Amino acid sequence: MEKTIIAGTGRYVPPRAVTNQDLEQWMDTSDEWIRQRSGIEKRHWVPEEGGVGSSDLGFEAARIALDRAGWEPQDIELIIFATLSPDIYFPGSGCLLQHKLGLNTTPALDIRQQCSGFVYGMSIADAYIRAGVYQRILFVGAEVHSTGLDISTRGRDVAVLFGDGAGAVCLEGIETDAPIGFLATTLHAQGELAESLMLELPSHRLRPSLTEEMLKSGRHYPTMDGRAVFKNAVRRLPEVAKETLAKAQMDTEDIDLFIPHQANMRINQGFQKAMQLPASKVFHNIQHYGNTTAASIPMAFDEAIEANIIGAGNAVMFLGLGSGLTWGATIYRFPD
Ligand SMILES: CC(C)(COP(=O)(O)OP(=O)(O)OC[C@H]1O[C@@H](n2cnc3c(N)ncnc32)[C@H](O)[C@@H]1OP(=O)(O)O)[C@@H](O)C(=O)NCCC(=O)NCCS
Repeated sequence: MEKTIIAGTGRYVPPRAVTNQDLEQWMDTSDEWIRQRSGIEKRHWVPEEGGVGSSDLGFEAARIALDRAGWEPQDIELIIFATLSPDIYFPGSGCLLQHKLGLNTTPALDIRQQCSGFVYGMSIADAYIRAGVYQRILFVGAEVHSTGLDISTRGRDVAVLFGDGAGAVCLEGIETDAPIGFLATTLHAQGELAESLMLELPSHRLRPSLTEEMLKSGRHYPTMDGRAVFKNAVRRLPEVAKETLAKAQMDTEDIDLFIPHQANMRINQGFQKAMQLPASKVFHNIQHYGNTTAASIPMAFDEAIEANIIGAGNAVMFLGLGSGLTWGATIYRFPD
């Protein structure tokens, strides 16, 4: 039977580290507020002058993942690129990355599931591979949030939470009957809550889609009902984790590590409590990167592998919730 295995992972953040103290210069906030509410200590942002896009960060992460998988760019049969902060409005960053990788006509698919981009992306890659359509797929989740944030007191509730970064994974089909690869996946969305976390402008339902007036009002910056998102996350993440465990006929004890999307350490601690898990089974790295949306799970995955927390034979659950709202979970078991 055709199964999907992850042949290599990589991550990249731009070198500019921005601490909570740095943010205090630009807005009325404090290290204490940010740490207490979110667990974040610093994040990485692209150079202030700009010029670096999601496809650039994605390229760096992809190079590492390709190297670890032992692939050349020419081995890639499909690129899946997850981002809410594309280099340009269209075409998607997947096409730009394809060109940067020196590829000619390899297909590139952009997906927009925000913080659930990794889980949705894995389900797409796995379905293509198991259906025999493609054998080698590169997934990249990458975000440049910093250039699109309101870095002032007006935007502080959102701006302090987000960081730039990229994570990449190489997915490969293998023929085996062993219980490895993606064992169960659950995806959900609830458009009713779209406005609880959104970036409204430019909007093609308006004519013109962006005006001077709109820019002044700040509607081209993301807005968030933090409490609503928080409440949904602490409810939906345990729910979808249980749904996915049941599909795979597994218990929490069968999972070696839970890698949740890194939106807020308190959300993930709430998840740990609700699932009655030991703290060591839930991975956190939000302290160093903030919320990197589509990049967050593949970056955390890469870090957990590098730190030897997970590897051969282990089972991992990836799960996330974000704008859409979208949420989901997937269980992956490494080959022995
Ligand atoms: C955003 C979040 C950290 C805010 O925490 P909270 O405890 O709900 O805080 P509140 O929004 O109630 O704000 C409390 C106060 O802090 C203020 N505040 C907001 N941002 C601030 C900041 N960066 N620094 C200092 N004060 C801030 C608010 O203005 C408010 O002041 P007030 O009480 O005088 O009105 C929290 O709601 C959260 O994490 N939500 C989920 C967000 C998320 O995960 N988003 C991404 C999903 S992918």
